Amino acid sequence: MSTTQQYLDQLHTDFTFSTAQLTGIVELFLHDMKEGLQGQASSLAMLPSFLTKPDGQETGIFLALDFGGTNVRVMLIKLTGQGNYTILKRQDVPLSNQSKNYDFTSRTSTAAELFGFLADQLAQLTQPGKTYLLGHTFSFPCRQTGTNQAILLHWTKEINTSGVVGHNVVDLLHQALADRGLSNIQPVTITNDTVSALLAAAYQDRYADIGSICGTGHNTCYLEPKPPRFSHPTYINIESGNFDKISGNKYDALLDQYSSRPGAGKLEKMCAGRYIGELLRLVLLDVVTQGLLFNGNCPVFLQTVGALSGWDVAVLQDAAARPEQISLWLAKHSSPTAVSLDDREVLQHSACLIATRSARLAAASYAAILKHIDPTLNSLHTISIDGSLYEKLPGYADTISQTLQELVGVKAGQIKCVLTKDGSGIGAAIAAATTKKNRGSQITT
Ligand code: BGC
Repeated sequence: MSTTQQYLDQLHTDFTFSTAQLTGIVELFLHDMKEGLQGQASSLAMLPSFLTKPDGQETGIFLALDFGGTNVRVMLIKLTGQGNYTILKRQDVPLSNQSKNYDFTSRTSTAAELFGFLADQLAQLTQPGKTYLLGHTFSFPCRQTGTNQAILLHWTKEINTSGVVGHNVVDLLHQALADRGLSNIQPVTITNDTVSALLAAAYQDRYADIGSICGTGHNTCYLEPKPPRFSHPTYINIESGNFDKISGNKYDALLDQYSSRPGAGKLEKMCAGRYIGELLRLVLLDVVTQGLLFNGNCPVFLQTVGALSGWDVAVLQDAAARPEQISLWLAKHSSPTAVSLDDREVLQHSACLIATRSARLAAASYAAILKHIDPTLNSLHTISIDGSLYEKLPGYADTISQTLQELVGVKAGQIKCVLTKDGSGIGAAIAAATTKKNRGSQITT
C-alpha cells in the first residue's frame, strides 16, 4: 500500500501538464484547427456562425433566449449603442427540477416538450400584440447554413432529449411558438454561447476576437479572418471540447467509459464543470479504497455517480484558506466523518489538481487560436470568457493568465482575458440586432 505522500505525488503526475507538454498540445490543436477549417477529418468541427463583428452601434430592444443545458434564461435587453445595454427583464429556470417533477434534458422528454417549455418562458416576458425580435443562444454543436438555421449535430453535457438531433432547432422553436399563438415572437438569429460571449465583448471592445465558455460545458470560438468559402471574416465555433489529442489518465478513462458518448468530448471531459466533480469523486473513491482517506471508510456519496459537481471542486480547493469548509462540506453530503490532517491534504490537493489542469488546458487552446490568427502577436487581443468555473473557481482565471504567459512569453501583454458575465444572453440580443439593425427599437416598455 502506498503512503499518502506517494499517492499525492502520483496524482500530481497524473493531472499535471508541463510547459513543454502544453506547447505540444498547442501545436496539435493548431493542426486540428487547420484541418477542420479546410473540411478535412479533424476532432475540431470548426463550425461557421455566419456572423461577423458588431460595430457597437446596434440599438433596440430584443428578446434573448439562452439555452445552455442546466438552465434556460430569458431576457429582455435594451441595446443603446457604444457598447451599452440594460437588462430590462430576466428570468432563469432550471431545465430539470425533481421537486416539480420535470426533466426536459432526459431521453424520455421530447423536442415538442422541451421547446414548448422554452416558448412558455418567453411568453412570460412578453406582452400580446407587441412584436419581439429574438436572438437565441443554443449551446450545442450545430451545423449552420445561415444566421437563423442550425441543425443539432449531437447533444453534449449528458443531455439526451429525444427528437432534436438532426433537426433544425429554429424550426422546432418556431413550431412551439406557433402552437401557443406566439407569432409576435420572431426568432431572427441562432448562435452558439461562445459566439454570444464574444459578441457581448466585441460590442464594446474592438480587440475582442476570442470567446470561450468555462462553465457546465467548455468550448471556444474566434473571429476567423479568412474563412474558406466566405468573402468576409466570420466567427467560427471550434467545438474545442471535442479535441482528442491529449492523453488522459485512468480517471479520465473511467469517466469516459460511463459517459453518454464514450470517446467523444475528450477535452470537455477534462475541463468542464459538468465533469470535473465526477473526476474528483473518482479520485477520492480511489484514495479511500487504498485506505488513504477517511481511514478507508467510504462515505455513501463517494459511491454515488454524479454526487459531486464543480461546486465541490471549488469548496475543497478553497479549503487551504478555510479548513472549516471541509467539515461543512462533509455535513452537506450527510457524512460527518472525522477528518485528519492527511485527509484535508488529499481533499484539497485533488480538487486543486483537477481545477488547475482544466484552466491550463483551456489556456493552451487559447494559445493555439492566437497562434493561428496572429502568429507574431502584433495586435492586441481580448478573450471574452463566461461561465461558472471562470467566474467562481478560486484561482481559475489567474491560472489561465499565467499559463498564457508561460506559453506565449513576452508578448503575453498583448492578451487580455475578461469575464463577460451574462454574455450568452447579451450576445444573443446583439446577434439579433446585427442582422436586423434597429428593427427591434419599435418596442417600448
Ligand atoms: C457544447 C458547446 C458549448 C459548450 C459550452 C459544449 O458541451 O458542445 O457547443 O459551447 O458546451 O456551453
